[in-house]
Amino acid sequence: MTDQSRCPVAHFDHNSPEHSADPIGSYSKFRSKHDIAWSEANGGYWVLAGYDAVFEAARNDDIFTSRRTPSGGDGLSVVIPKTPMHQHIPIELDPPEFRKYRKIVNLITAPAAVGRMTDMIAHYTTWFIDEVIEAGECDFSDIIGVPSIVTIDWLGIPTDEWRRYSSAHRATLASPQDSPEFKQAVEVDLPACSAQMHETIAARRESPTDDAISFLVQQSIDDRPITDDEVFSIVELLISGGVGTTASLVSQALVWLHQHHDARQKLIDDPSLLDHAVEEFLRYFSPTQALARTVTQDIEFKGCPMREGDRVLLSWASANRDEAAGFENPDELDIERWPNRHTAFGLGVHRCAGSHLGRAMACSLIGQILERMPDFAIDESKMQRYIRQGVNVGFRSLPATFTPGVRRSMSA
Ligand code: HEM
Repeated sequence: MTDQSRCPVAHFDHNSPEHSADPIGSYSKFRSKHDIAWSEANGGYWVLAGYDAVFEAARNDDIFTSRRTPSGGDGLSVVIPKTPMHQHIPIELDPPEFRKYRKIVNLITAPAAVGRMTDMIAHYTTWFIDEVIEAGECDFSDIIGVPSIVTIDWLGIPTDEWRRYSSAHRATLASPQDSPEFKQAVEVDLPACSAQMHETIAARRESPTDDAISFLVQQSIDDRPITDDEVFSIVELLISGGVGTTASLVSQALVWLHQHHDARQKLIDDPSLLDHAVEEFLRYFSPTQALARTVTQDIEFKGCPMREGDRVLLSWASANRDEAAGFENPDELDIERWPNRHTAFGLGVHRCAGSHLGRAMACSLIGQILERMPDFAIDESKMQRYIRQGVNVGFRSLPATFTPGVRRSMSA
């Protein structure tokens, strides 16, 4: 039965097969009628689709909390429905508590820290391409291996089991919940990854080295040492927040470049255009489509009667296509668009902590693919998108061919 006190009401579900078939079209239809509306799906939630609404809500943590609350059940508070999992820090905290942790995370993700990772990122990108360059064919969805191995190496987790991390992330993002891959990920690989993270945290507490986990275990919160559990909450977020998103950005950009030869040639001729192109790929593809908050008190927000405990979806993807935000021809991808105030990394205090690392990995991958596989072609008849595209968009399969090249003799 429709809840008469929540209006306007829209027929919308970001987890539905209809939405997944065409997320951009689905949001565009939504925005043609509303900036904000209530949906009865997923137990009931507000959908914020207009740029202004998303902008204001994301910057108001007093009203729109990221904290875990009883509304919507147990689990990760920033998705609808909530997914049962260990609390993630700092994404599930509000200021002032939030700031104590975010300032620590900022120290390992700031531009200077990412600058020190340049050689490592280039090394793994080269290795990924070396593995396939002689064959002249590959599956570009395997690109998820690069952010996986970069992230776990940076953190200080042993890299010999990196495949477990990438296959677990790909399966949870891309495979049906009743598939053997999903079962393997949830029942075997993710618990094994968690165990390895716990072991590494304990080992670095005992004898620190120069990796990111060693840095984290030596920090203090309120004049007491940070706990292993808190470090785990940060480390798990750094891995789950960065691996699939970066792979999604790169693979979607490659499909678009396969379809747009002039733009591809322009980037090959002038790689200095890549930085702005990546910002536009972020806006246009929004790898993280939408995340959630919970309303803390009864309020009227932009004319909508919200109640304490209401769940709210902030659609970064929809805001990124809102012409009212000043994006000229928002449904056109212009690799030279600038300025580009996109929302793909979120807005407000929770704006992505890994944005510099995500950009660096994306530039390295797209740059080297254009340099070493300039004529790549994707078999569109065989490419497969993620089954659910409400939160993460991307490809589970992306077969490509290219003129074979030579290795640069790198091993992972
Ligand atoms: C293209 C790549 C990426 C995209 C599109 C992306 C997207 C986002 C978005 C939309 C948020 C906002 C969350 C919110 O408001 O609730 C966020 C937060 C976050 N991201 Fe990213 N991300 C990317 C790469 C990364 C990488 C590489 C890392 C890890 C190094 C990372 C770590 C984080 C963390 C820790 C947060 C939480 C920040 C906080 O709560 O203060 N992300 N990301």
